[in-house]
Amino acid sequence: MKRKDFIKTCAFGCVGALTLGSVLQSCASVKMVDGIIVGDNIQVNLSEFKIIKDQKITYRKYIVVHNNQLKFPITVYRINEMEYSALWMKCTHQGNVLTAYGDKLQCSAHGSEFDKHGNATNGPAENKLRRFRVSIENELLKISIKTV
Ligand code: FES
Repeated sequence: MKRKDFIKTCAFGCVGALTLGSVLQSCASVKMVDGIIVGDNIQVNLSEFKIIKDQKITYRKYIVVHNNQLKFPITVYRINEMEYSALWMKCTHQGNVLTAYGDKLQCSAHGSEFDKHGNATNGPAENKLRRFRVSIENELLKISIKTV
């Protein structure tokens, strides 16, 4: 193998390994939750946000809630103990499903990004994401999906 070909092969291998690693890492860190539809709400237990490790409790920044009756999943960000932001994962540009990644939602179709409050932070999308009203009852998080 020529030196130039060897360097090319190594470069592609490294890029591939880094890309696959970050994809797997991002998939592994996303908590997917089956939401239960009760009346006009989709419900999840607040414990879904908890991470218990070495007798220490921390909280996930967000979870992704889905149900077969919904056309798109809903990302729920934990702003603080009493405040949550539930966002429809449908891009406001042309309707592609979004991917939750850290503190933002990204669209793989044309690159739009949204913050955890649903604001478009990177175009071409200009409009906010649909945001659902959230309430807490006992240990349940209730996301109002009345008009989905
Ligand atoms: S559909 Fe999401 S950026 Fe175009």
